[in-house]
Amino acid sequence: MSTLYEPALHINDVNYSMGDVHILKNITGSFPKGKITTLVGPSGAGKTTLLKLCNGLISPTSGDIFIHDKPISSYEPTELRRHVGIALQSAPMIKGTVYHNLALPMELQGRKLAEQDAIAILEDVGLDKLFLHRKTNDLSGGQLQKVSIARTLNNRSEILLLDEITSALDRSSLHEIEELIVKINRKYGTTIIWITHNLEQAMSIGDYTWVLMDGQVIETGESDLLKSPMNEVVRQFVQGGAE
Ligand SMILES: Nc1ncnc2c1ncn2[C@@H]1O[C@H](COP(=O)(O)OP(=O)(O)O)[C@@H](O)[C@H]1O
Ligand SMILES: [Mg+2]
Repeated sequence: MSTLYEPALHINDVNYSMGDVHILKNITGSFPKGKITTLVGPSGAGKTTLLKLCNGLISPTSGDIFIHDKPISSYEPTELRRHVGIALQSAPMIKGTVYHNLALPMELQGRKLAEQDAIAILEDVGLDKLFLHRKTNDLSGGQLQKVSIARTLNNRSEILLLDEITSALDRSSLHEIEELIVKINRKYGTTIIWITHNLEQAMSIGDYTWVLMDGQVIETGESDLLKSPMNEVVRQFVQGGAE
């Protein structure tokens, strides 16, 4: 990968073990600021674990992760949330309305979300203001994913981590979410780190791609690398389809 970019997040020789299991092995690399990097690899490769480390949900066994040249372990949790947001395939919601869910991150910081601001955030993700007082139980998968993304926009995070957010969606919702993420990336310059098992998506949406296998980064580069990988194992993975 070219080094002529500013990293939004830098990973320096990170290892992660649980008991005797060495889950991530000597991971080093940077995610370029304002770009979309897709993470692909077989199930169990360690992609979700890597994302959790980037978000401070778990801590490396050794090595460090830096944002603005500062290890993320040195950030206050609320400060870290302003740098890094996360959205998951399951789009977990608390019981209640869309408003309750959008307001939650601020309430945890002792602040209140004005209704007008909530409506503006909804519009940003392409949901009508009528959704504000709807119960999240009644929403479709695509709508839930939009609320989940809207919730991360609340913090205006510079970096957005996405874990398989379109895996459970039908084709048209999938495209809507892809367009939404690209829009957020362009509009706010948000750095996107996106785990997907959809290799077509990894290429079409990604500027850069990392291929993880068995806890290691096997190949990185511009996302076109998936068309003709250098590494034979990656080539087999790509030809065999995902997962
Ligand atoms: N909480 C956990 N306890 C034990 N093993 C785990 C746990 N989380 C992940 N692992 C193991 O770590 C490896 C990587 O998992 P994961 O990061 O979820 O992979 P991916 O997201 O690429 O499918 C897998 O072998 C998985 O079984
Ligand atoms: Mg995963």
